[in-house]
Amino acid sequence: APAKTEDFVATVPAGVFAETVTSVQHYTDRLFRFRMTRPESFRFRSGEFAMIGLMVGDKPIYRAYSIASPAWDDELEFFSIKVPDGPLTSHLQQIKPGDTVLMRKKPTGTLVLDALTPGKRLYMFSTGTGIAPFASLIRDPETYEKFDEVILTHTCREVAELKYGFDLIDEIRNHEFLSEIVGGKLRHYATVTREDYPFQGRITDLIVDGKMFEDLGLPRFDPAVDRGMICGSSAMLKDTKALLEQAGLVEGSNAKPGEFVIERAFVD
Ligand code: A2P
Repeated sequence: APAKTEDFVATVPAGVFAETVTSVQHYTDRLFRFRMTRPESFRFRSGEFAMIGLMVGDKPIYRAYSIASPAWDDELEFFSIKVPDGPLTSHLQQIKPGDTVLMRKKPTGTLVLDALTPGKRLYMFSTGTGIAPFASLIRDPETYEKFDEVILTHTCREVAELKYGFDLIDEIRNHEFLSEIVGGKLRHYATVTREDYPFQGRITDLIVDGKMFEDLGLPRFDPAVDRGMICGSSAMLKDTKALLEQAGLVEGSNAKPGEFVIERAFVD
C-alpha cells in the first residue's frame, strides 16, 4: 500500500528541504535531467552546487549536484548521470513528477562569476554532466554583463549525450528576455570522442593543436582578456588546468579571484 503522508513526513530528516519533482527527461541510458520545486528561502549563485538526496530505506543518501538552473528561476534543475548500481543514482533515475527529493540547505562552489577577475571572454570547459553548472551560468544575465563573449565547450563520448546542451541553446534562443540579453555573445562548441561527428576529439587535444581556436575563429588564450571555468572528470580537470596555466592564467577561488576556476566537488 502507498505510504500515508504522515509516514513519509516522519522519514524526512530534520533541517533539509523536501521538494517535489515537477519534470523528468531521459536523454540516454546514462543521462537524465529533472526539475523540482524551489524552497522560497533557498538562495544560491549561478554555478554553485547543493547536496541532493533521497531516502533509501530509512537512511538519506546525498551527492553533490550542480544546480543547472539559473539563480532567477523559480524551479531547480539538475542534470544527472545514471550509474546502474550507484548508491544514489540507481534510485534517483527512477523518480517521477510528484516524488520527493531532499536537498541540504547550504549551496556552495567555485564556478561562480565572483571567483573570476574581470575579463572579456569567458570559456566554460565541460565534459559529460560537467555541463550542469554552465547550464545555470549561460542562462544568467549577469554572465553577459561581465563578459562580451561566452564560449561553452562540451565534449562527450557520443552524439546523443550532447542533446541537453543543444536543448539549452535552443531554449535561450527562444526565451522572451534571455534571447535579447544573450544576443550573439554565446558560442556553443560541442565535440565527440567515440563516434563520427563533424567536431571530434578531446577539448584538451583541440586546444593543443589549435583546432578549437581555428573552428571558433579566436586567438589562442591571452591572460589579459580570457577567463576560464572547468568542470569534468578529475583527469579532464587536471589536463585542462595545465593548459590554462601554460598560457599564463592563474587559478582563483571565492577568497581570491583569479583567471580561471575549477570545481572539484564531483571528483571521486
Ligand atoms: P574519451 O572518450 O577520449 O575518454 P567520461 O564519460 O569518461 O567522463 O568522458 C567524457 C568525455 O571526456 C569523453 O569525451 C572523454 O574522452 C573526455 N575525457 C576523458 N578524459 C579526459 C581528459 N583527461 N582530458 C580531456 N577530455 C577527457
